Amino acid sequence: MVTIKKDDEIELMRRSGKLAAEVLLMIAPYIKPGVTTNELNDRCHDFIVENGAIPAPLNYRGFPKSICTSVNDEICHGIPSERKLRNGDVVNLDITTIVDGFHGDTNQSFFVGSPRKQAKKLVDTTREALHKAIAVVRPGARLGDIGATIQQHVEPKGYSVVREFCGHGIGRNFHEDPQVLHFGNFGQGMVLEKGMTFTIEPMINLGKPDLRILEDNWTAVTQDGNLSAQYEHTVLVTDDGHEVLTRIEGKTSF
Ligand code: MF3
Ligand code: CO
Ligand code: CO
Repeated sequence: MVTIKKDDEIELMRRSGKLAAEVLLMIAPYIKPGVTTNELNDRCHDFIVENGAIPAPLNYRGFPKSICTSVNDEICHGIPSERKLRNGDVVNLDITTIVDGFHGDTNQSFFVGSPRKQAKKLVDTTREALHKAIAVVRPGARLGDIGATIQQHVEPKGYSVVREFCGHGIGRNFHEDPQVLHFGNFGQGMVLEKGMTFTIEPMINLGKPDLRILEDNWTAVTQDGNLSAQYEHTVLVTDDGHEVLTRIEGKTSF
């Protein structure tokens, strides 16, 4: 069931989204060669708790940490560990906060040190795909418009869209209806209505779209071992368009 948020609920979604965005801004300077993903996890955890909120991933369906850290060929749901990041790595940090019962969900791919050209192009293209998809969000648009827009932006460049994971409705629950696929056809799928809140979070692979799950039962990696990138925002459908709830104007970099 898709929930339409009331004004007071939207206000809490704004606060949660803003905090999740602030976590990414806070952690960015610490993402350097030699840092462990556990150190990044712990800083994010403390920041969220100090702000009176809850890190949603912790204990979610048994997830053991407070954020997801996915490195290089890891597509999503990477578990923070003692792994040290190295120059040239691409790491995605996925932050989900709960403020007064409402979720905010955002993620970003970061370069550790200086990126290789190939990595820079993939990450830029993934961010552009998210932005183009957000731009089509308004009442009357359809979910298929979002997926088709992403596909159309990345596939001509030779990249592929991960099929097994999608964006999602979000609110009192981490994952609600609808499923927001990152591929599809224009003019198809659910019609968007004012008051809907959902994420768009394309995972784009340099090579083939196929994935496998590691023995930890969480980490999704590309089957061919090639790089994967992702960006995520939580968006609200407004009267005449959309509001990005996980963006702080003038501060957030994407
Ligand atoms: N934040 C992820 C998403 O965008 C979900 C992570 S689930 C977890 O939907 F358990 F791994 F945290
Ligand atoms: Co999400
Ligand atoms: Co997320």
